[in-house]
Amino acid sequence: MAEKRQSIHGQWSSRWAFIMAATGSAVGLGNIWRFPYITGEYGGGAFVLMYLACVLLVGIPIMMAEVMLGRRGRQSPINTMSSLSKEEGLNPAWRYLGWMGVVAGFLILSFYSVVAGWTLEYIFHASSGSFLTATDGEIGETFDSLLRDPGQLLAMHTLFMALTVVVVAMGVRSGLERAVKFLMPALFILLLIMVGYAMSTDGFQEGLYYLFYPDWSKLSAEGFLAALGQAFFSLSLGMGAIMVYGSYLPDDASIGHTTVSIALADTVVAIMAGLAIFPLVFAYGLEAGSGPGLIFVTLPIAFGQMPYGQVFGTGFFVLLLFAAWTSSISLLEPAVAWLVENRGIARPKAAAIAGLIAWTLGIGSVLSFNLWQDYRLFDKTYFDIMDYVTSNILLPLGGLLIAVFTAWLMSRKAIVAELGLGEGLVFQVWLFVVRFVAPVGVVVIFLHAIGII
Ligand code: PHE
Repeated sequence: MAEKRQSIHGQWSSRWAFIMAATGSAVGLGNIWRFPYITGEYGGGAFVLMYLACVLLVGIPIMMAEVMLGRRGRQSPINTMSSLSKEEGLNPAWRYLGWMGVVAGFLILSFYSVVAGWTLEYIFHASSGSFLTATDGEIGETFDSLLRDPGQLLAMHTLFMALTVVVVAMGVRSGLERAVKFLMPALFILLLIMVGYAMSTDGFQEGLYYLFYPDWSKLSAEGFLAALGQAFFSLSLGMGAIMVYGSYLPDDASIGHTTVSIALADTVVAIMAGLAIFPLVFAYGLEAGSGPGLIFVTLPIAFGQMPYGQVFGTGFFVLLLFAAWTSSISLLEPAVAWLVENRGIARPKAAAIAGLIAWTLGIGSVLSFNLWQDYRLFDKTYFDIMDYVTSNILLPLGGLLIAVFTAWLMSRKAIVAELGLGEGLVFQVWLFVVRFVAPVGVVVIFLHAIGII
């Protein structure tokens, strides 16, 4: 093989730092905002089981492949794919897989930042104590009136995008790594408190039942695809975010162990979010399938009622903001790494350019809740389309291609050397899953969703 590459962007200080950063990327709005509301839209337990199966059979194996490619290529996903395909004697067009990831990253960040903006707004509401005195109806109205106000949505979207650009501008170690170390554990603890509160309400049993009892009749073909899409979205897979983080991973770190810990942490946080939210939905007679506003209308009710709700409420939205922040930086990083490598642009400027592109795309999402809400395609608004196309199409497609590239096209020698698992049973199982189970799973779910099988 070619001699070991070095990343020009630096490296994580340790394996642990990588785990924190990648977990920071994985754990975000996807777990706490998107997982509960999508679960609600697709009917609960059966969706959750399908989601868990996707994480285990498709997500974890593909995450290993993605980290592995990243560490071997040690560049932005575009250049990594181009170097690896050259090294393996494959078609250079594989670099377009990197480009697809960059595009997906921009599209995701564009609406992600708008939702993170809601979180910012809710920090102000929670800390002002307004949830303490509001009725359930007024809490719902707070959310609706935010959505009706394009100026406010745009302001918060802009603020969040600026926060993202600042951290990415600071670079791998001083920016990305520092941000995640304390915030993730704090978020976890606060989520535990929320689950504790949910347990004390009389909706807990119903919430548990809803989340874990699989009623397969409720799960449509569309629901299967949504579960797959959610697995990719939540684990940050299929667009190069994990690949670029892998490119900063020290050579001696074990890819298998780190990947499993990241996926496990991500899944635990999603389930905890479900456990914190669904009991409240039932205790207060709310609608599980109410869509993207779900956590913004359920949790404030809880904060209004629980002791020290003002403190916990503020803390919760602050930590959610940080969780979103550590994810959004990974959405921007692949594009920024490429701008630095190929255009010779200094990192701060590259971050600003990339951030501006995502910000501009996000204006459509801002408007889709108010002025543009009637402009629809297949009954979906601009925001819905961005979310649907990225989660349900681009990410699984990216993952499929990553699996094919790794398990079918790369030389076994290269894979074995980079993964460092040896060639024993664990390796064999992984290879089998990435060769057959994951790609076939993605294809079958796609075809099923469009009604072909
Ligand atoms: N995984 C992140 C979340 O759950 C979102 C994300 C998707 C980040 C894809 C990077 C890449 O919030």
